Amino acid sequence: MRTYLVTGGAGFIGSNYIHYMFRKYGDEIKIINVDKLTYAGNLENLKDIEGRDNYRFVRADICDSEAISKIFEEEDIQRVVHFAAESHVDRSIKNPEVFVKTNVLGTLVMLNAAKAAWEQPDGSFLPDHKFLHVSTDEVYGSLPEDGGYFYETTPYDPHSPYSASKASSDFLVKAYMDTYHFPANITNCSNNYGPYQFPEKLIPLMINNALQGKSLPVYGDGKNVRDWLFVEDHCKGIDMVQEKGRLFETYNIGGHNERQNIQIIHTILDTLQDMLPEDDPRLAHINEDLITYVTDRKGHDRRYAIAPDKIKEEIGWYPETCFEEGIKKTIEWYFDHADWMQNVTSGDYLKYYEDMYANR
Ligand code: NAD
Ligand code: DAU
Repeated sequence: MRTYLVTGGAGFIGSNYIHYMFRKYGDEIKIINVDKLTYAGNLENLKDIEGRDNYRFVRADICDSEAISKIFEEEDIQRVVHFAAESHVDRSIKNPEVFVKTNVLGTLVMLNAAKAAWEQPDGSFLPDHKFLHVSTDEVYGSLPEDGGYFYETTPYDPHSPYSASKASSDFLVKAYMDTYHFPANITNCSNNYGPYQFPEKLIPLMINNALQGKSLPVYGDGKNVRDWLFVEDHCKGIDMVQEKGRLFETYNIGGHNERQNIQIIHTILDTLQDMLPEDDPRLAHINEDLITYVTDRKGHDRRYAIAPDKIKEEIGWYPETCFEEGIKKTIEWYFDHADWMQNVTSGDYLKYYEDMYANR
C-alpha cells in the first residue's frame, strides 16, 4: 500500500484531490492529510471519507518542522503532494507576510523533512519516493491580450506577493532537485473551478452573490483573461505527472479555455437562469443589473494562458470537462450544498467581504 502525505488537503484543490485519489485507488493507498485549517481549510470538505481506515488527518502548520518530521517518522511516506499555501491574490496584496511564511518557509520545511526521511547515507534517495510541488501559472507573469502562451521554458516574472511567494517556492524545489538530486516534480496550473472552492475566488463569489441578489463586483474593465480548468482535471493531471512524468521536470497544466472575467459572469448568470425552476423567486433579481464595475486589483495581470503541449505529448493528459459542462456541474454542486456555503460565509467571511469590497 502506497502512502501519500498531502498538505493542504482540507482546501479546495486538496480536498478534490483526496476524493479523486480514493475514487481511483480505493484501499490500494493510504493518505495522510496535514492541514493547519486556516480560514480556507474546512474538514466538512472531507466528511464522507473521514471514517476510512486508510485516511488520517493531522492538524499542523507546515512551518512547524517538528510536527512535519514526526509524520515522516510515524508513517512510511512514499509520495508527497504539496498543496498547502496561502492562495488568494487579493489577500496577498493586503497582507504579504503570511504568504512568505507559508508558501516559502513552509515549502522549505516540507523539502527538508522529505529529504531527511528519504536520503540514503551515500546521498542517493530511496527508490520510488517522490515529491510533487503544486504551483501556479501566475509565476510566469502576464501575457499580452493578443497572443502568446506560457510554456515550461517561459521566464518567471511574478507580479503579486502571492505569485512571488509561489515563484520562490518553485525555485526552492528546483534548487533541491539540482543540488541534491531530490526526486521531485513541479506542476504549474491555470485557474481551477469546481466544488468546494471558497467564495473569495471569482466563480463561487459570483454564484453566491447572484443567488443572494448581491452586486457582482467586476475589477477594472472586466476584460482580464484567465484560462479555466475543472478541478478534477487538475487532480488527474497531478496524479499522472507523479506516476508517469519524468522526475525533475516541470509540467504546465491547463485546458486552452481562455475567458474574460465578464464573459464568465455572463455565463454564470445565463446558467443560473436556465437551471433554476421557473417559479424560483430568485429569478426576479438574477440578471445583468447586478454587475458592478469596481476599482481594479493593484498590479492586475491582464492575461494568463497555458500551453499544455508537454503534458499532453509526454503523459497523454488532456482536460476532459469542457467549460459549459464544468460550470453546470459546479453550480449544481453549490445548489446542493447551500449549507456548506452558509457555513463558510458566516463569521469571518463577512468581515473579509466588508474589508475587501466596502469602499471599492
Ligand atoms: P486553498 O486556499 O483553497 O487551500 C489551501 C489549504 O492549505 C487550506 O486547507 C489551508 O488550511 C491550508 N494551509 C494554509 N496554510 C497552511 C499552513 N501554514 N500549514 C498547513 N496548511 C495550511 O487553496 P487551493 O486553491 O486549493 O490551492 C492549493 C494549491 O494549488 C496552492 O498551492 C495554490 O498555489 C495552487 N494552485 C491553485 C490554483 C487555483 O486556481 N485555486 C491554480 C493553480 C495552483
Ligand atoms: O492562475 C492560477 C491562480 O488562479 C491560482 O494560483 C490562485 O491561487 C487562484 O486564486 C487564481 O488567481 P486569480 O487571481 O486569477 O483568481 P481570482 O478568482 O481571485 O480572480 C480571477 C479573476 O477575476 C481576476 O482577473 C480578478 C477577477 N475578480 C476576482 C474577484 C474575486 C473580479 O473581477 N472580481 C472579484 O470579486
